[in-house]
Amino acid sequence: MEKKKMILDLDTGIDDALAIAYAAGRTDIELLGITSVFGNVTADRAAENSLDILALLGREDVPVYQGEGAPLGEETYAPAAISRQIHGENGVGEIRLAPSGRKTETESGVDFLIRSIMTLGKELTIVATGPLTNLAAVFRRCPQAAGQLGKLVIMGGAVTVPGNVCPWAEANILGDPAAAKTVFESGADIVLVGLDVTMRTLLTRKETAQMRAWGTETGEKLADMTEFYLKAYERLAPWMGGCAIHDPLAVGIAADPSLAETFSTYLTAETEGPLRGRTIGRQELLRTPGGNTAVCLNVDAERYLKGFMEAVGRSAKAPEMNGPERGADAGAPAEGSAGKDNL
Ligand code: BDR
Ligand code: CA
Repeated sequence: MEKKKMILDLDTGIDDALAIAYAAGRTDIELLGITSVFGNVTADRAAENSLDILALLGREDVPVYQGEGAPLGEETYAPAAISRQIHGENGVGEIRLAPSGRKTETESGVDFLIRSIMTLGKELTIVATGPLTNLAAVFRRCPQAAGQLGKLVIMGGAVTVPGNVCPWAEANILGDPAAAKTVFESGADIVLVGLDVTMRTLLTRKETAQMRAWGTETGEKLADMTEFYLKAYERLAPWMGGCAIHDPLAVGIAADPSLAETFSTYLTAETEGPLRGRTIGRQELLRTPGGNTAVCLNVDAERYLKGFMEAVGRSAKAPEMNGPERGADAGAPAEGSAGKDNL
């Protein structure tokens, strides 16, 4: 099976960490690297969390690159109180992870992204699950990169449902609306995995019990983190009955587009005024056929959750057996193999 070459651009909080575990466990993904960005935590902390999670998963072969530390045009960044409530001060639910002992690469995240796009072109998929500042820097420095890249799958935005920071804005887009606008209008081939679909996918204590039943330290730590996240949801959105599995869904749809139904439009983000951070179609292109962004509007949540638990379980059950070749072993079925009854 041909694996999808993937880079993850993460502000590593809890669901970003789960996205790493999911990508690492999928047999149809070749994880080329992780870049860090500010968001749930600082970019430094995001990089450190990614390194520690990769160590927990036995995936020290995956390089981590330091990305942008603040929104475009700003010098500094401090995580908002709400991020600290949802992801904890350390971004991973105050869970103590063994320090990986590894450092980030000397090449910057933005340089790595540009180099990878220019080398791999259409073969490359980038999954971005934090503010879009790294990608905006890539397209501002190297505008031709937008047309060369395969797919850019973004967890962010809320097109048909309310936002999660305010009624019209989702956290990753509001984290740097100018960067989001640059990325949406760059000409890149984009899939938007927004709250429209991520809020339909939930983890509950049933899944954390399953993680603990794997009987490994990796399973325990992932369950501890997820329960911190679950408790935040119980306080902030008790009506949901679980926590949304936002960032892993972007990985899932990047690997297996048949998980979602989409609607194509020319998307952008509001950068000023009372609706700052809103994701919205570009009015001037309403009569232009097609679109640059496939907005996910529906998801096969059941099949996604099943594949998520299988892949994370594969990562967590025997981390000492993990490595870049793992997908070639054991004949495990790819989560990407959609049945005819799926969406
Ligand atoms: C997004 O915001 C962050 O808190 C999560 O990691 C996710 O990427 C959800 O709005
Ligand atoms: Ca994130």
